[in-house]
Amino acid sequence: MVETIYTVAENERIARDVYKMRLCGDVSMLTAPGMFINIALPGRYLRRPISVHDVDADGGWLSIVYKVVGAGTDDMSRMTAGTKLDVLSGLGNGFDTSKSGERPLLLGGGLGTAPLYMLAKKLLGEGRRVSAVLGFASADDVFGADELTSLGVSVAVATVDGSAGVRGFVTDAMPEAGGYTFTYSCGPTPMMKAVYGRAATGGEYSFEARMGCGFGACLGCSVKTVGGSKRVCRDGPVLEKEEIVWDD
Ligand SMILES: Cc1cc2nc3c(=O)[nH]c(=O)nc-3n(C[C@H](O)[C@H](O)[C@H](O)COP(=O)(O)OP(=O)(O)OC[C@H]3O[C@@H](n4cnc5c(N)ncnc54)[C@H](O)[C@@H]3O)c2cc1C
Ligand code: FES
Repeated sequence: MVETIYTVAENERIARDVYKMRLCGDVSMLTAPGMFINIALPGRYLRRPISVHDVDADGGWLSIVYKVVGAGTDDMSRMTAGTKLDVLSGLGNGFDTSKSGERPLLLGGGLGTAPLYMLAKKLLGEGRRVSAVLGFASADDVFGADELTSLGVSVAVATVDGSAGVRGFVTDAMPEAGGYTFTYSCGPTPMMKAVYGRAATGGEYSFEARMGCGFGACLGCSVKTVGGSKRVCRDGPVLEKEEIVWDD
């Protein structure tokens, strides 16, 4: 982990209340898909953790996709090119692509779709046949499907109100057992719990938690696992299927 300064290069709206921001600076510590950064915002107390969507090491930039849900993300949505941000970068363990088998299935719920782009790029670069199921509330919320398709990922979309793709939840559009070799999931806890119950293979699940420090010092983000308590920020956010303990 390093504290660094990133400069906003672009910040555009890509879906309802959802923005994509490109940040320039040192990205050498962002080595795995599923890692996150923790952004200090002027006048706001805690940093805001946001997953990395894509990294270009040669170009010296990364992108994030975020939804405006409160004051901090609202501040971010108003930032213009040239704004400097104090960021803790290179946080979290990220997804392990060596476990994927030949046909990994990526499952994203809402903003959980964001880190799947970098993951898909890596898996495709390793010669895997990648498919994805993305779930949203409604057609206006959908993002990320076209960019995954243009990489060569086979994408299915589910919306709760049926206004785009399959009507229902991510699990309603999951392929049958045998159609995939491993799952990678990121999204709200109820979605991941449903995927966990339905998935026919092993998998990795990326968790969110309210965070204090963001780098392992405060224990504020601890979750129960079969091996004892783990910190989402430092030992996660990605946990193995076998170690997950769901709180009822
Ligand atoms: C590892 C990690 C990765 C994340 N990646 C993304 C991402 O790629 N894109 C994205 O849009 N968001 C992501 N989040 C959630 C993001 O951090 C929060 O939405 C953001 O901090 C809210 O800040 P705010 O000031 O706008 O809202 P606040 O005023 O702080 O809160 C507004 C609402 O958001 C909820 N909230 C705030 N922080 C979190 C949190 N950490 N987890 C869950 N709910 C929260 C609050 O309960 C409240 O309902 C991630 C969180 C974690 C822990
Ligand atoms: S947020 Fe402090 S230990 Fe995870």
